[in-house]
Amino acid sequence: MQAFTFHNPTRIHFGEGQIARISGEIPAGSRVLLTFGGGSIHANGVYQQIRDALADCTVIEFGGIESNPEFETLLRAVELGRAEQVDWVLAAGGGSVIDGSKFIAAGIALDPAIDPWLIVGNRTPLQRALPLGVVLTLPATGSESNNAAVVTRRATQDKLSFKNALVFPCFAVLDPAVTRSLPKRQVANGIVDAFVHTTEQYLTVPNAAAIQDRLAEGILATLIENGPKTLNDPANPDARANLVWSANQALFGLVGAGQVTDWATHAIGHELTALYGIDHARTLALVLPSLLRHRLDDKTAKLAQYGRRVWSLTGSDRAVAMSAINATAAFFEHLEVPTRLSAYKLDADEVASAVREQLIRHQRLQLGEGGTLTPDDCARILTAAA
Ligand code: NZQ
Ligand code: ZN
Repeated sequence: MQAFTFHNPTRIHFGEGQIARISGEIPAGSRVLLTFGGGSIHANGVYQQIRDALADCTVIEFGGIESNPEFETLLRAVELGRAEQVDWVLAAGGGSVIDGSKFIAAGIALDPAIDPWLIVGNRTPLQRALPLGVVLTLPATGSESNNAAVVTRRATQDKLSFKNALVFPCFAVLDPAVTRSLPKRQVANGIVDAFVHTTEQYLTVPNAAAIQDRLAEGILATLIENGPKTLNDPANPDARANLVWSANQALFGLVGAGQVTDWATHAIGHELTALYGIDHARTLALVLPSLLRHRLDDKTAKLAQYGRRVWSLTGSDRAVAMSAINATAAFFEHLEVPTRLSAYKLDADEVASAVREQLIRHQRLQLGEGGTLTPDDCARILTAAA
Protein backbone atom coordinates (compact mmCIF):
# COMPACT_ATOMS: atom_id res chain seq x y z
CA MET A 1 0.00 0.00 0.00
CA GLN A 2 1.22 3.56 -0.74
CA ALA A 3 1.49 6.21 1.96
CA PHE A 4 -1.65 8.32 2.29
CA THR A 5 -3.40 11.00 4.33
CA PHE A 6 -7.15 10.60 4.53
CA HIS A 7 -9.29 13.60 5.36
CA ASN A 8 -12.88 14.16 4.36
CA PRO A 9 -14.52 17.03 6.24
CA THR A 10 -18.00 16.74 4.68
CA ARG A 11 -20.71 15.93 7.23
CA ILE A 12 -23.31 13.65 5.66
CA HIS A 13 -27.00 13.59 6.60
CA PHE A 14 -28.40 10.43 5.05
CA GLY A 15 -32.05 9.39 4.86
CA GLU A 16 -35.59 10.52 4.27
CA GLY A 17 -36.54 13.92 5.66
CA GLN A 18 -32.97 15.02 6.25
CA ILE A 19 -33.26 18.23 4.20
CA ALA A 20 -34.69 19.80 7.36
CA ARG A 21 -31.21 19.43 8.92
CA ILE A 22 -30.04 22.37 6.84
CA SER A 23 -31.49 24.71 9.46
CA GLY A 24 -28.93 23.37 11.93
CA GLU A 25 -26.07 23.70 9.44
CA ILE A 26 -26.49 27.20 8.01
CA PRO A 27 -26.73 29.86 10.75
CA ALA A 28 -29.92 31.90 10.96
CA GLY A 29 -29.50 35.30 9.34
CA SER A 30 -27.10 34.03 6.66
CA ARG A 31 -27.36 35.28 3.10
CA VAL A 32 -27.55 32.09 1.07
CA LEU A 33 -27.05 31.73 -2.68
CA LEU A 34 -29.28 28.78 -3.60
CA THR A 35 -28.01 27.22 -6.84
CA PHE A 36 -29.88 24.71 -8.96
CA GLY A 37 -30.29 23.37 -12.48
CA GLY A 38 -33.09 23.31 -15.00
CA GLY A 39 -35.99 23.01 -12.61
CA SER A 40 -36.22 19.41 -11.38
CA ILE A 41 -36.10 20.64 -7.77
CA HIS A 42 -39.32 22.58 -8.31
CA ALA A 43 -41.13 19.52 -9.71
CA ASN A 44 -40.14 17.06 -6.98
CA GLY A 45 -40.64 19.09 -3.81
CA VAL A 46 -36.95 19.55 -2.98
CA TYR A 47 -37.18 23.31 -3.49
CA GLN A 48 -39.98 23.75 -0.96
CA GLN A 49 -38.21 21.58 1.63
CA ILE A 50 -35.10 23.74 1.24
CA ARG A 51 -37.03 27.00 1.50
CA ASP A 52 -38.70 25.72 4.67
CA ALA A 53 -35.34 24.81 6.18
CA LEU A 54 -33.94 28.25 5.26
CA ALA A 55 -36.88 30.17 6.72
CA ASP A 56 -34.53 32.20 8.95
CA CYS A 57 -32.08 33.08 6.15
CA THR A 58 -32.13 35.47 3.22
CA VAL A 59 -32.17 33.37 0.06
CA ILE A 60 -30.90 34.57 -3.30
CA GLU A 61 -31.66 32.11 -6.12
CA PHE A 62 -29.55 31.22 -9.11
CA GLY A 63 -31.11 28.58 -11.39
CA GLY A 64 -30.23 27.32 -14.85
CA ILE A 65 -26.91 25.60 -14.22
CA GLU A 66 -26.76 23.18 -17.15
CA SER A 67 -25.37 19.66 -17.37
CA ASN A 68 -21.61 19.87 -17.78
CA PRO A 69 -21.73 23.32 -16.16
CA GLU A 70 -20.46 26.14 -18.29
CA PHE A 71 -17.98 28.76 -17.23
CA GLU A 72 -20.07 31.66 -18.60
CA THR A 73 -23.13 30.57 -16.58
CA LEU A 74 -21.09 30.14 -13.41
CA LEU A 75 -19.52 33.54 -13.87
CA ARG A 76 -22.99 35.12 -13.77
CA ALA A 77 -23.60 33.36 -10.46
CA VAL A 78 -20.27 34.66 -9.12
CA GLU A 79 -21.30 38.20 -10.08
CA LEU A 80 -24.70 37.78 -8.42
CA GLY A 81 -23.14 36.34 -5.27
CA ARG A 82 -20.68 39.24 -5.04
CA ALA A 83 -23.36 41.87 -5.65
CA GLU A 84 -25.65 40.30 -3.03
CA GLN A 85 -22.79 39.78 -0.57
CA VAL A 86 -23.80 36.20 0.12
CA ASP A 87 -21.98 34.28 2.82
CA TRP A 88 -23.11 30.71 1.97
CA VAL A 89 -23.69 28.71 -1.22
CA LEU A 90 -26.26 25.90 -1.14
CA ALA A 91 -26.28 23.61 -4.18
CA ALA A 92 -29.38 21.51 -4.93
CA GLY A 93 -28.98 19.04 -7.76
CA GLY A 94 -26.69 16.50 -9.40
CA GLY A 95 -22.97 16.61 -10.12
CA SER A 96 -23.28 19.53 -12.53
CA VAL A 97 -24.95 21.86 -10.03
CA ILE A 98 -22.60 20.76 -7.26
CA ASP A 99 -19.45 21.13 -9.37
CA GLY A 100 -20.65 24.48 -10.64
CA SER A 101 -21.32 25.59 -7.06
CA LYS A 102 -17.79 24.65 -5.99
CA PHE A 103 -16.54 26.99 -8.70
CA ILE A 104 -19.03 29.68 -7.60
CA ALA A 105 -18.02 29.35 -3.91
CA ALA A 106 -14.36 29.76 -4.88
CA GLY A 107 -15.08 32.44 -7.49
CA ILE A 108 -17.02 34.75 -5.16
CA ALA A 109 -14.17 34.70 -2.66
CA LEU A 110 -11.45 35.15 -5.30
CA ASP A 111 -9.50 38.43 -5.56
CA PRO A 112 -11.55 40.32 -8.21
CA ALA A 113 -8.30 41.17 -10.02
CA ILE A 114 -7.77 37.48 -10.84
CA ASP A 115 -9.42 35.82 -13.87
CA PRO A 116 -11.76 33.14 -12.42
CA TRP A 117 -11.02 30.81 -15.38
CA LEU A 118 -7.63 30.27 -13.72
CA ILE A 119 -9.40 28.37 -10.92
CA VAL A 120 -10.00 25.62 -13.46
CA GLY A 121 -6.88 23.51 -13.89
CA ASN A 122 -5.63 24.79 -10.50
CA ARG A 123 -3.72 27.63 -12.17
CA THR A 124 -4.22 30.14 -9.35
CA PRO A 125 -3.90 29.37 -5.63
CA LEU A 126 -7.12 29.77 -3.67
CA GLN A 127 -6.92 31.61 -0.35
CA ARG A 128 -10.55 31.13 0.59
CA ALA A 129 -13.93 29.87 -0.61
CA LEU A 130 -17.43 30.50 0.68
CA PRO A 131 -18.85 27.65 2.78
CA LEU A 132 -20.82 25.26 0.60
CA GLY A 133 -23.72 22.97 1.46
CA VAL A 134 -25.25 20.36 -0.84
CA VAL A 135 -28.63 18.70 -1.33
CA LEU A 136 -27.91 15.77 -3.63
CA THR A 137 -30.65 14.75 -6.06
CA LEU A 138 -28.76 12.37 -8.39
CA PRO A 139 -26.51 9.55 -7.14
CA ALA A 140 -23.55 9.37 -9.52
CA THR A 141 -20.55 11.62 -9.18
CA GLY A 142 -19.72 11.64 -5.47
CA SER A 143 -19.23 15.39 -5.88
CA GLU A 144 -21.41 15.95 -2.80
CA SER A 145 -18.53 14.98 -0.54
CA ASN A 146 -15.33 15.44 -2.48
CA ASN A 147 -13.10 18.36 -3.43
CA ALA A 148 -13.23 18.04 -7.23
CA ALA A 149 -15.21 19.91 -9.89
CA VAL A 150 -15.35 19.82 -13.67
CA VAL A 151 -16.16 22.98 -15.66
CA THR A 152 -16.76 23.35 -19.40
CA ARG A 153 -15.92 26.17 -21.76
CA ARG A 154 -18.01 25.25 -24.74
CA ALA A 155 -16.57 27.76 -27.23
CA THR A 156 -13.11 26.24 -26.92
CA GLN A 157 -14.27 22.64 -26.26
CA ASP A 158 -12.47 22.54 -22.93
CA LYS A 159 -13.83 20.35 -20.15
CA LEU A 160 -11.34 20.67 -17.32
CA SER A 161 -11.28 19.99 -13.61
CA PHE A 162 -9.91 21.53 -10.46
CA LYS A 163 -9.40 20.18 -6.98
CA ASN A 164 -9.06 22.10 -3.76
CA ALA A 165 -9.63 21.25 -0.11
CA LEU A 166 -11.44 24.60 0.32
CA VAL A 167 -14.36 23.40 -1.82
CA PHE A 168 -15.19 20.26 0.13
CA PRO A 169 -18.86 20.78 1.00
CA CYS A 170 -19.30 21.50 4.72
CA PHE A 171 -22.33 19.22 4.70
CA ALA A 172 -24.30 17.11 2.25
CA VAL A 173 -27.90 15.90 2.51
CA LEU A 174 -28.46 12.51 0.86
CA ASP A 175 -32.19 11.78 0.91
CA PRO A 176 -32.79 8.78 -1.38
CA ALA A 177 -36.51 9.68 -1.62
CA VAL A 178 -35.72 12.77 -3.71
CA THR A 179 -34.13 10.58 -6.39
CA ARG A 180 -37.54 9.01 -7.13
CA SER A 181 -38.21 11.64 -9.79
CA LEU A 182 -35.10 10.79 -11.83
CA PRO A 183 -35.65 9.57 -15.38
CA LYS A 184 -34.36 6.01 -15.97
CA ARG A 185 -31.58 7.32 -18.18
CA GLN A 186 -30.13 9.36 -15.32
CA VAL A 187 -30.42 6.45 -12.88
CA ALA A 188 -28.54 4.23 -15.33
CA ASN A 189 -25.94 6.95 -15.91
CA GLY A 190 -25.40 7.21 -12.17
CA ILE A 191 -24.87 3.46 -11.79
CA VAL A 192 -22.25 3.47 -14.54
CA ASP A 193 -20.47 6.57 -13.23
CA ALA A 194 -20.20 5.14 -9.71
CA PHE A 195 -19.06 1.80 -11.16
CA VAL A 196 -16.29 3.41 -13.16
CA HIS A 197 -15.16 5.64 -10.26
CA THR A 198 -14.59 2.41 -8.41
CA THR A 199 -12.78 0.58 -11.22
CA GLU A 200 -10.52 3.59 -11.89
CA GLN A 201 -9.15 3.21 -8.36
CA TYR A 202 -9.19 -0.59 -8.19
CA LEU A 203 -8.48 -2.18 -11.58
CA THR A 204 -4.82 -1.28 -11.71
CA VAL A 205 -2.05 -3.35 -10.11
CA PRO A 206 -1.92 -5.56 -6.98
CA ASN A 207 -0.99 -3.28 -4.12
CA ALA A 208 -1.73 -5.20 -0.93
CA ALA A 209 -4.47 -2.70 0.00
CA ALA A 210 -6.83 -5.35 1.29
CA ILE A 211 -9.48 -3.08 2.83
CA GLN A 212 -9.61 -0.78 -0.20
CA ASP A 213 -9.90 -3.78 -2.55
CA ARG A 214 -12.73 -5.30 -0.52
CA LEU A 215 -14.46 -1.94 -0.31
CA ALA A 216 -14.24 -1.54 -4.09
CA GLU A 217 -15.55 -5.07 -4.62
CA GLY A 218 -18.40 -4.40 -2.18
CA ILE A 219 -19.41 -1.25 -4.02
CA LEU A 220 -19.26 -2.96 -7.41
CA ALA A 221 -21.30 -5.93 -6.19
CA THR A 222 -23.83 -3.57 -4.57
CA LEU A 223 -24.21 -1.62 -7.81
CA ILE A 224 -24.65 -4.82 -9.83
CA GLU A 225 -27.33 -5.97 -7.39
CA ASN A 226 -29.12 -2.72 -6.62
CA GLY A 227 -28.73 -0.83 -9.91
CA PRO A 228 -31.09 -2.99 -11.98
CA LYS A 229 -33.39 -3.38 -8.95
CA THR A 230 -33.79 0.41 -8.76
CA LEU A 231 -34.47 0.64 -12.49
CA ASN A 232 -37.01 -2.20 -12.52
CA ASP A 233 -38.70 -1.36 -9.24
CA PRO A 234 -38.45 2.42 -8.74
CA ALA A 235 -40.51 2.25 -5.56
CA ASN A 236 -38.00 -0.07 -3.83
CA PRO A 237 -36.60 2.19 -1.07
CA ASP A 238 -33.81 -0.17 0.01
CA ALA A 239 -32.39 -0.54 -3.49
CA ARG A 240 -32.51 3.23 -3.97
CA ALA A 241 -30.87 3.95 -0.61
CA ASN A 242 -28.06 1.51 -1.33
CA LEU A 243 -27.55 3.02 -4.76
CA VAL A 244 -27.20 6.51 -3.25
CA TRP A 245 -24.72 5.28 -0.67
CA SER A 246 -22.72 3.26 -3.24
CA ALA A 247 -22.33 6.25 -5.52
CA ASN A 248 -21.26 8.37 -2.57
CA GLN A 249 -18.71 5.90 -1.26
CA ALA A 250 -17.22 5.28 -4.71
CA LEU A 251 -15.71 8.77 -4.71
CA PHE A 252 -15.62 9.62 -1.03
CA GLY A 253 -11.88 9.00 -0.88
CA LEU A 254 -11.49 5.66 0.88
CA VAL A 255 -11.56 3.41 -2.20
CA GLY A 256 -8.53 5.15 -3.65
CA ALA A 257 -6.61 5.83 -0.42
CA GLY A 258 -3.17 4.26 -0.73
CA GLN A 259 -4.08 2.70 -4.09
CA VAL A 260 -2.45 3.04 -7.48
CA THR A 261 -5.12 4.74 -9.58
CA ASP A 262 -5.85 4.94 -13.31
CA TRP A 263 -8.38 7.70 -14.33
CA ALA A 264 -7.63 7.34 -18.07
CA THR A 265 -11.25 6.39 -18.82
CA HIS A 266 -12.35 9.71 -17.30
CA ALA A 267 -9.70 11.71 -19.16
CA ILE A 268 -10.82 10.26 -22.50
CA GLY A 269 -14.47 10.55 -21.48
CA HIS A 270 -14.18 14.28 -20.76
CA GLU A 271 -12.88 14.82 -24.30
CA LEU A 272 -15.84 12.86 -25.72
CA THR A 273 -18.27 15.06 -23.78
CA ALA A 274 -16.44 18.24 -24.83
CA LEU A 275 -16.51 17.21 -28.50
CA TYR A 276 -19.86 15.43 -28.88
CA GLY A 277 -21.92 16.39 -25.82
CA ILE A 278 -22.36 12.74 -24.76
CA ASP A 279 -23.48 12.40 -21.11
CA HIS A 280 -20.50 11.94 -18.77
CA ALA A 281 -21.35 8.37 -17.67
CA ARG A 282 -22.13 7.34 -21.23
CA THR A 283 -18.64 8.30 -22.33
CA LEU A 284 -17.22 6.04 -19.63
CA ALA A 285 -19.21 3.04 -20.86
CA LEU A 286 -17.80 3.64 -24.35
CA VAL A 287 -14.22 3.76 -23.13
CA LEU A 288 -13.83 1.36 -20.20
CA PRO A 289 -14.34 -2.09 -21.79
CA SER A 290 -12.14 -1.19 -24.74
CA LEU A 291 -9.47 0.33 -22.49
CA LEU A 292 -9.39 -2.77 -20.29
CA ARG A 293 -8.97 -4.99 -23.36
CA HIS A 294 -6.17 -2.74 -24.61
CA ARG A 295 -4.39 -3.00 -21.25
CA LEU A 296 -5.21 -6.61 -20.49
CA ASP A 297 -1.56 -7.63 -20.07
CA ASP A 298 -0.87 -4.86 -17.49
CA LYS A 299 -4.09 -5.42 -15.59
CA THR A 300 -4.52 -9.21 -15.69
CA ALA A 301 -3.95 -9.77 -11.97
CA LYS A 302 -6.51 -7.22 -10.76
CA LEU A 303 -8.99 -8.12 -13.50
CA ALA A 304 -8.76 -11.77 -12.47
CA GLN A 305 -9.32 -10.83 -8.80
CA TYR A 306 -12.31 -8.71 -9.88
CA GLY A 307 -13.71 -11.51 -12.03
CA ARG A 308 -13.46 -14.08 -9.25
CA ARG A 309 -14.69 -11.94 -6.36
CA VAL A 310 -17.33 -9.80 -8.07
CA TRP A 311 -18.57 -12.00 -10.94
CA SER A 312 -17.80 -15.43 -9.38
CA LEU A 313 -15.88 -16.49 -12.51
CA THR A 314 -13.50 -19.46 -12.55
CA GLY A 315 -10.57 -20.48 -14.75
CA SER A 316 -7.09 -19.21 -15.53
CA ASP A 317 -6.19 -15.61 -14.68
CA ARG A 318 -6.30 -14.58 -18.31
CA ALA A 319 -9.58 -16.31 -19.08
CA VAL A 320 -11.23 -14.82 -15.98
CA ALA A 321 -9.83 -11.38 -16.79
CA MET A 322 -11.27 -11.45 -20.31
CA SER A 323 -14.63 -12.75 -19.12
CA ALA A 324 -14.74 -10.05 -16.44
CA ILE A 325 -14.34 -7.35 -19.10
CA ASN A 326 -17.14 -8.94 -21.14
CA ALA A 327 -19.36 -9.14 -18.04
CA THR A 328 -18.73 -5.44 -17.34
CA ALA A 329 -19.68 -4.46 -20.90
CA ALA A 330 -22.79 -6.68 -20.75
CA PHE A 331 -23.79 -5.04 -17.45
CA PHE A 332 -23.60 -1.55 -19.00
CA GLU A 333 -25.55 -2.71 -22.06
CA HIS A 334 -28.16 -4.29 -19.78
CA LEU A 335 -28.60 -0.85 -18.21
CA GLU A 336 -29.10 0.49 -21.75
CA VAL A 337 -25.87 2.43 -21.62
CA PRO A 338 -24.10 1.64 -24.92
CA THR A 339 -20.48 0.48 -25.09
CA ARG A 340 -20.08 1.05 -28.83
CA LEU A 341 -19.69 4.34 -30.73
CA SER A 342 -22.00 3.00 -33.44
CA ALA A 343 -24.89 3.48 -30.98
CA TYR A 344 -24.30 7.24 -31.36
CA LYS A 345 -23.86 6.94 -35.13
CA LEU A 346 -20.30 8.19 -34.74
CA ASP A 347 -17.43 7.12 -36.99
CA ALA A 348 -14.85 5.55 -34.70
CA ASP A 349 -11.82 6.59 -36.77
CA GLU A 350 -12.95 10.21 -36.80
CA VAL A 351 -13.67 10.16 -33.07
CA ALA A 352 -10.29 8.56 -32.37
CA SER A 353 -8.45 11.21 -34.31
CA ALA A 354 -10.39 14.13 -32.78
CA VAL A 355 -9.91 12.84 -29.22
CA ARG A 356 -6.21 12.28 -29.85
CA GLU A 357 -5.86 15.95 -30.88
CA GLN A 358 -7.77 17.11 -27.80
CA LEU A 359 -5.65 15.00 -25.46
CA ILE A 360 -2.49 16.48 -26.93
CA ARG A 361 -3.90 20.02 -26.69
CA HIS A 362 -4.85 19.41 -23.04
CA GLN A 363 -1.45 17.87 -22.25
CA ARG A 364 -3.07 14.58 -21.27
CA LEU A 365 -0.07 12.70 -22.64
CA GLN A 366 0.77 10.01 -20.09
CA LEU A 367 -2.44 8.52 -18.78
CA GLY A 368 -3.27 5.51 -16.66
CA GLU A 369 -1.42 3.94 -13.75
CA GLY A 370 2.25 4.15 -14.59
CA GLY A 371 1.59 6.92 -17.14
CA THR A 372 2.11 4.58 -20.07
CA LEU A 373 -1.05 5.35 -22.04
CA THR A 374 -0.34 7.82 -24.86
CA PRO A 375 -2.81 9.75 -27.05
CA ASP A 376 -2.06 7.17 -29.78
CA ASP A 377 -3.12 4.37 -27.42
CA CYS A 378 -6.29 6.29 -26.58
CA ALA A 379 -7.05 6.60 -30.31
CA ARG A 380 -6.64 2.82 -30.70
CA ILE A 381 -8.96 2.24 -27.75
CA LEU A 382 -11.65 4.35 -29.42
CA THR A 383 -11.17 2.75 -32.84
CA ALA A 384 -11.71 -0.62 -31.16
CA ALA A 385 -14.96 0.69 -29.63
CA ALA A 386 -16.51 1.17 -33.11
O1 NZQ B 1 -30.98 20.45 -14.05
P1 NZQ B 1 -32.07 19.70 -13.39
O2 NZQ B 1 -33.42 20.21 -13.72
O3 NZQ B 1 -31.86 19.53 -11.93
O4 NZQ B 1 -32.09 18.22 -14.07
C1 NZQ B 1 -31.01 17.33 -13.95
C2 NZQ B 1 -30.22 17.16 -15.25
O5 NZQ B 1 -31.05 17.39 -16.37
C3 NZQ B 1 -31.57 15.96 -13.74
N1 NZQ B 1 -31.88 15.66 -12.34
C4 NZQ B 1 -31.05 15.70 -11.27
N2 NZQ B 1 -31.68 15.27 -10.17
C5 NZQ B 1 -32.96 14.98 -10.54
C6 NZQ B 1 -33.08 15.22 -11.92
N3 NZQ B 1 -34.24 15.03 -12.59
C7 NZQ B 1 -35.28 14.57 -11.88
N4 NZQ B 1 -35.22 14.29 -10.57
C8 NZQ B 1 -34.08 14.47 -9.86
N5 NZQ B 1 -34.03 14.13 -8.57
O6 NZQ B 1 -30.55 15.08 -14.19
C9 NZQ B 1 -29.86 15.70 -15.28
C10 NZQ B 1 -28.38 15.43 -15.17
O7 NZQ B 1 -27.84 16.09 -14.05
P2 NZQ B 1 -26.23 16.29 -13.90
O8 NZQ B 1 -26.00 17.00 -12.64
O9 NZQ B 1 -25.69 16.88 -15.16
O10 NZQ B 1 -25.72 14.78 -13.83
P3 NZQ B 1 -24.55 14.13 -13.01
O11 NZQ B 1 -24.86 14.05 -11.58
O12 NZQ B 1 -24.26 12.87 -13.74
O13 NZQ B 1 -23.32 15.14 -13.14
C11 NZQ B 1 -22.49 15.17 -14.28
C12 NZQ B 1 -21.39 16.19 -14.11
O14 NZQ B 1 -20.53 15.84 -13.00
C13 NZQ B 1 -19.18 15.77 -13.44
C14 NZQ B 1 -19.31 15.36 -14.88
O15 NZQ B 1 -18.15 15.58 -15.62
C15 NZQ B 1 -20.47 16.21 -15.34
O16 NZQ B 1 -20.05 17.51 -15.63
N6 NZQ B 1 -18.40 14.88 -12.56
C16 NZQ B 1 -18.01 15.35 -11.35
C17 NZQ B 1 -17.20 14.62 -10.50
C18 NZQ B 1 -16.73 15.15 -9.21
N7 NZQ B 1 -16.99 16.41 -8.89
O17 NZQ B 1 -16.11 14.44 -8.43
C19 NZQ B 1 -16.72 13.27 -10.85
C20 NZQ B 1 -17.35 12.69 -12.06
O18 NZQ B 1 -16.45 11.77 -12.64
C21 NZQ B 1 -17.79 13.67 -13.09
O19 NZQ B 1 -16.70 14.07 -13.90
ZN1 ZN C 1 -17.30 10.07 -13.38
